[in-house]
Amino acid sequence: MKLTEYAWMLDDPARIEAFRRAIAQRVRPGNVVVEVGAGLGTYSFFACQAGAARVYAIEDSVAGALEELARRQGFGDRLRVIRENSLDAALPERADWIIFEDFNSAFLGGGLAPVVRDAAARLLAPGGGWIPSAAEVWGALVEVPESWGSIARWRREAEHLKGLDYRPLAGWLLNSAHKGRCMPEALVTAPRLLRRYRLGEPGEAYDLSGSWEDAARRTGSVHALCAWFRLELAEGVWLDNTPGADETVYEQEIFTLPEALPVEAGGAVRWSLQGIPEREGGHVWWKWGAEAGGRAYEGNTFAGLPLRLESLADRSAEKIPQPGRRQEIMRFVLGCADGRLTQGEIAARVRAAFPEDFPAERHALRFVAGILRS
Ligand SMILES: C[S@@+](CC[C@H](N)C(=O)[O-])C[C@H]1O[C@@H](n2cnc3c(N)ncnc32)[C@H](O)[C@@H]1O
Repeated sequence: MKLTEYAWMLDDPARIEAFRRAIAQRVRPGNVVVEVGAGLGTYSFFACQAGAARVYAIEDSVAGALEELARRQGFGDRLRVIRENSLDAALPERADWIIFEDFNSAFLGGGLAPVVRDAAARLLAPGGGWIPSAAEVWGALVEVPESWGSIARWRREAEHLKGLDYRPLAGWLLNSAHKGRCMPEALVTAPRLLRRYRLGEPGEAYDLSGSWEDAARRTGSVHALCAWFRLELAEGVWLDNTPGADETVYEQEIFTLPEALPVEAGGAVRWSLQGIPEREGGHVWWKWGAEAGGRAYEGNTFAGLPLRLESLADRSAEKIPQPGRRQEIMRFVLGCADGRLTQGEIAARVRAAFPEDFPAERHALRFVAGILRS
């Protein structure tokens, strides 16, 4: 995420106030708190304000900004910034509370599954708790002709593209999950609770899979499935991005159908949604569909990737790699890193050995630093 995005997230009073209230309610003086993915540190600072004895703010991306902001709050030794990924972090003590906020608009996003599982096993004290403690995923079928139309229009030849063929774009985009704002009037079916998770629950896979049948509230067209979350941050303190609730940066997650699906008031509509996190890395693959009046449409985020077969084959276990020049230079760099030479000295050797690859010393230095960064 860019710094501008953190600032944009900070400018969200509903979200910040909900977390502030929850932290003030949960964290007791003397508690140890870990924030996994602290960003600009706001929630870690709230934990200090609530009297935590120590707060470990773990962040692997904007840690420079976090350190400077942390220094300014004057919490001294009570606040420790840990500049690494939580999966690699070894802390001197376990937490009474883990604060975590790295979700997409349908909750299941980013590296949630592996990160939460790891933190629950290694960073939380027995009897400790999570903020949020639970999350619900909700969904409904929606009529959103304008946003759907702005994607599907790529199926037609665009006037301003002067004969260029961009039609495949519609297929990729219609098979993508879109973040957007959905109005309550757009809901063709009643909101439905799809799944409830307890954060840190052992064995939880943080996946989602279900199919449901609803009656259409009115005659119209279904263009998409809309999903959102409700986070239970503390007792009586919720943060949600339900259509029509206080606006937050989260908006909603919208899964578009390839065609508008006509529905009759009171008529049955069957629909399904599946979210499958990758085992490592936590990327979530989505699959969805809806069916009414004998028509059925579906989409999935795998089909939303403009994949080349060659790039898939690149990852295959059967491929026998043929190291090229880049790998040769990398091997040379690794051979030079003996624990004594500086990066500058290694860069000079690399440049002397491969002069045509590095027109200037700084090019070699950047390459060496990139390879040797742990
Ligand atoms: C949506 S931001 C929220 C940040 C924070 N709550 C705030 O208000 O600024 C999620 C942050 O978590 C960080 N993050 C996600 N997983 C992480 C991990 N396993 N270890 C360290 N940082 C992580 C990301 O770099 C990102 O800064």
